[in-house]
Amino acid sequence: MGAAADLTPPPGAAADWTIDQGWDAYAPAEHQVWLTLYERQAALLKGRACDAFLHGLDALDLHGGGIPDLRRVNPALEKLTGWTVVTVPGLVPDPVFFDHLANRRFPAGQFIRRPDQLDYLQEPDIFHDVFGHVPMLTDPVFADYMCAYGRGGLRALGLGQLHHLARLYWHTVEFGLLQAPEGLRIYGAGIVSSRKETIYSLEDPRPKRIEFDLERVMRTVYKIDDLQPTYFVIPSLQALLDATLQDFAAIYDRLRAEPDIGLGEVTAEDHLIAA
Ligand code: PHE
Ligand code: FE
Repeated sequence: MGAAADLTPPPGAAADWTIDQGWDAYAPAEHQVWLTLYERQAALLKGRACDAFLHGLDALDLHGGGIPDLRRVNPALEKLTGWTVVTVPGLVPDPVFFDHLANRRFPAGQFIRRPDQLDYLQEPDIFHDVFGHVPMLTDPVFADYMCAYGRGGLRALGLGQLHHLARLYWHTVEFGLLQAPEGLRIYGAGIVSSRKETIYSLEDPRPKRIEFDLERVMRTVYKIDDLQPTYFVIPSLQALLDATLQDFAAIYDRLRAEPDIGLGEVTAEDHLIAA
């Protein structure tokens, strides 16, 4: 999510901060970075990512000739759930980001990481944004959740409650796990786009895996520059969407009086899940 407070787009960007992807200008070495990352993650994610993600990867055929051409991806995605991907120059201000989501447009970065950054970079690039986020947008339930989140974001901004709502995004859209009948599966974009965290989130004994509880999640702080100490596990995408249909204004009022929950902390009410 964005940072800049000024809503004026940078030079060359449209009023909604979008730019042309400029697909024809990607260099062969940049396409190669995508292919390397794609092949690594696609192999690792079989049996680790949730079905919705794996189906989405197939449905959009994101392998192709390297970095996906959004002119080709968008018609397929739009037909499935009404979503499209738009290109932005980098982080965009919160209201701009939420407005895109509320209108079923996912803002994706244009650049791709350098070959020496395959394992980690702090800013979202097109691999994180398109490989990580876009497959889930082919799922009708998750597609509705992301759109509702955009509307909820605009509302939370008005209520001065973005800090609580942003934690929901972090612990679901970015780092969520799902309890499938066959076992724990990944749906969070921050996990599926990282080789290390794909394995760590599911198989390492160190992180806590806690049953998703909406208010608990909104009270839980996060840090952006390390493997997560806690993952929240949803029973299904439908359960996640259902939990967010309620009016959050009442929840925000309650949360004002509740203390935050620290990194890796476990409370007496938490239900832990074995990996
Ligand atoms: N129901 C939330 C509200 O009243 C909006 C929302 C939906 C937020 C889905 C997040 C996800 O503000
Ligand atoms: Fe992301």
